[in-house]
Amino acid sequence: MLVTQIVDAVRESLEIRVVGLSGSLRAPSATRMAVQYALKGAEEEGAKVQVMDLAAYNLPYWGLEREEGNVKAVERFRSELRASDGIILGSPEIHGSLSGVLKNALDLTGIEEFEGKMVGLVGVAGGRVGATEALSHLRTIGRSLHAWVVPAQVSIGDSAEAFKLNGEPIDPETGDRLKLVGRQVAHFARLHKCENHAQFLKEWEAHPLTTAESSNGKRSPGTIK
Ligand SMILES: Cc1cc2nc3c(=O)[nH]c(=O)nc-3n(C[C@H](O)[C@H](O)[C@H](O)COP(=O)(O)O)c2cc1C
Repeated sequence: MLVTQIVDAVRESLEIRVVGLSGSLRAPSATRMAVQYALKGAEEEGAKVQVMDLAAYNLPYWGLEREEGNVKAVERFRSELRASDGIILGSPEIHGSLSGVLKNALDLTGIEEFEGKMVGLVGVAGGRVGATEALSHLRTIGRSLHAWVVPAQVSIGDSAEAFKLNGEPIDPETGDRLKLVGRQVAHFARLHKCENHAQFLKEWEAHPLTTAESSNGKRSPGTIK
């Protein structure tokens, strides 16, 4: 049996589920588009993907989660997160941090949803500097939730000009980098799920992850080797 055939067989036997959360509920949200594009990378890596729309869960503010009427909503949200192997977190830069929408949703969760999971980060910002603070705060949150936050991350500045209406990034290099985040999450989630060392090594050797090459052939800044 060829190594590629073994890898295909491993892929089929290990179903990987990657979900995305967007910290913006705005209708034409750049964050949502960034999360969706990162999920495409996870899908290309063989994962089942889903955007978990935070507006659809009717989540209460943290502290009110035990009130009548809120328990079920929070449990539905948490159980769907628990069923995932990897999570893409996307946030707009809001007042130099992640959005309150995403922070509140994360505050309703705990290590039960995140421990041992692969987490990928993407951020968008209205300003030129990008979503550096949101990303850094999310990385800290991921660590405190005992998640494995993958090294690739994407910060998109000038968010109003970053995506076409159909959700395609205007700069193809941004698209490559978003997909790399999703690919890393799916790839390492699969490695994490391998049942034995032989499977792990075959997966690892067949697909060493890697750089996002931009469409003009140059390495993207901020990507990893
Ligand atoms: C209340 C508020 C605070 C913001 N703070 C920042 C900020 O600190 N830095 C920045 O670059 N952009 C900031 N922005 C701009 C947003 O990051 C930008 O509009 C982003 O695209 C919003 O995300 P969305 O398109 O996913 O809805 C702020 C926007 C709002 C509404």
